Amino acid sequence: MSTAELTIELPDELATDTLGRQLATVLLDSTKTNEINELGINSGASVYLSGDLGAGKTALVRALLRAAGVTGRIKSPSYALLESYKVSSLYFYHIDFYRFNDPSEWQDAGFRELFRPDAVVLIEWPEKADGQLPTPDLMISLSYKGEGRVARIEAQTKRGAAWLTTLSEM
Ligand SMILES: Nc1ncnc2c1ncn2[C@@H]1O[C@H](COP(=O)(O)OP(=O)(O)OP(=O)(O)O)[C@@H](O)[C@H]1O
Ligand SMILES: [Mg+2]
Repeated sequence: MSTAELTIELPDELATDTLGRQLATVLLDSTKTNEINELGINSGASVYLSGDLGAGKTALVRALLRAAGVTGRIKSPSYALLESYKVSSLYFYHIDFYRFNDPSEWQDAGFRELFRPDAVVLIEWPEKADGQLPTPDLMISLSYKGEGRVARIEAQTKRGAAWLTTLSEM
């Protein structure tokens, strides 16, 4: 049975960090094995993150990137729109569409080309790109809960569902 949805309490920053690390493990395992081919998917892995300002989208991506082996500073892409990283032969693209105004910018900026089999695409504020984006493997919605946060993770592809199952067993 594959999992379609998972809710994870994140009472403090350490919990966000742990989830980021677990996501990195799941993503890296799947890019190392032939899972992509088995599932008949040849586009890059993608995770979208929604939630209010300060809900922890960048914090979660930062933890994921760090665990995936990114060294050096991990900036929020809120100004540059895109921050890129390469770890061995895998590319990570961290995008923030908060300041994105005109959906036609999407075409012009060539974002579609980032969705390659050797790339992991992580997008904050996907709703601002207004239907221009391909369906992600995982949609993560972060919300405030007391002093902490809660993450609702939805699988939107078969591969995403396989990842969620792995994640729920960690
Ligand atoms: N589980 C948690 N509990 C409490 N605080 C947290 C938790 N996770 C992250 N934080 C804190 O919440 C803030 C989240 O900021 P972050 O920049 O990640 O938000 P964001 O969702 O990316 O916002 P924006 O929409 O502006 O890009 C940081 O100060 C971080 O330390
Ligand atoms: Mg952010």
